Amino acid sequence: KQAFNESLEKLQTDYLDLYLIHWHGPNVKETWCAIEELYAEGKVKAIGVSNFSINHLEAMKAYATVMPMINQVETHPYFPQDELRDYLKKEKIHHESWGPLSQGKTDLLLHPILAEIGKKYGKTPAQVVLRWHIDRGSIVIPKSVNPNRIHENFALFDFALTEDDMKAIAKLNIETRYGRDPENTGFEW
Ligand SMILES: NC(=O)c1ccc[n+]([C@@H]2O[C@H](COP(=O)([O-])OP(=O)(O)OC[C@H]3O[C@@H](n4cnc5c(N)ncnc54)[C@H](OP(=O)(O)O)[C@@H]3O)[C@@H](O)[C@H]2O)c1
Repeated sequence: KQAFNESLEKLQTDYLDLYLIHWHGPNVKETWCAIEELYAEGKVKAIGVSNFSINHLEAMKAYATVMPMINQVETHPYFPQDELRDYLKKEKIHHESWGPLSQGKTDLLLHPILAEIGKKYGKTPAQVVLRWHIDRGSIVIPKSVNPNRIHENFALFDFALTEDDMKAIAKLNIETRYGRDPENTGFEW
């Protein structure tokens, strides 16, 4: 709650739209209960988690009175998180994709399949990937320091991918994450 109040002060506001636990850790139960209280007090409009696995979410059922509304996890065509995504859908938890373009850590945006699909719609490979996230029903939060790219990353709502496009992109899955594994973070708590 102290951290929450510090954030309000820094952001110069008296409520937040969305508040997430960044990683699963030893104080998760206590932290979630505090976040539930902030939600009940109307200080946060929606509450959720990030980097939580199916096991983490299942364990929360023992103590949560409100289940997370969002789980923000690494997701991109090289790591589409199909199993977790299906689980989140079933549990009515929104899937939010971090690293949606694979964070510039891979050759994803150079993939010829993405260029080929983009050519049909006059869109860049990045726009094709971002549209793929949206068409899968995920919330997508790309990051860029470049104003032109920020505009590009918003120009996604005048086209849609076909089923064949989605199938072609699904074939890029190599089940490889580039961030930490939530089940084995390597953090020293
Ligand atoms: N919850 C978590 O644990 C976690 C972990 C990591 C990130 N995140 C969040 O995820 C969000 C997404 O950021 P991210 O850095 O992870 O990954 P990202 O959006 O997948 O990738 C950002 C990289 O892609 C480049 N890029 C952006 N738009 C592009 C475009 N249209 N064409 C070509 N390159 C483009 C950016 O370069 P330029 O800036 O040079 O354009 C930057 O190098 C952020 O809000 C971040 O805070 C959350």
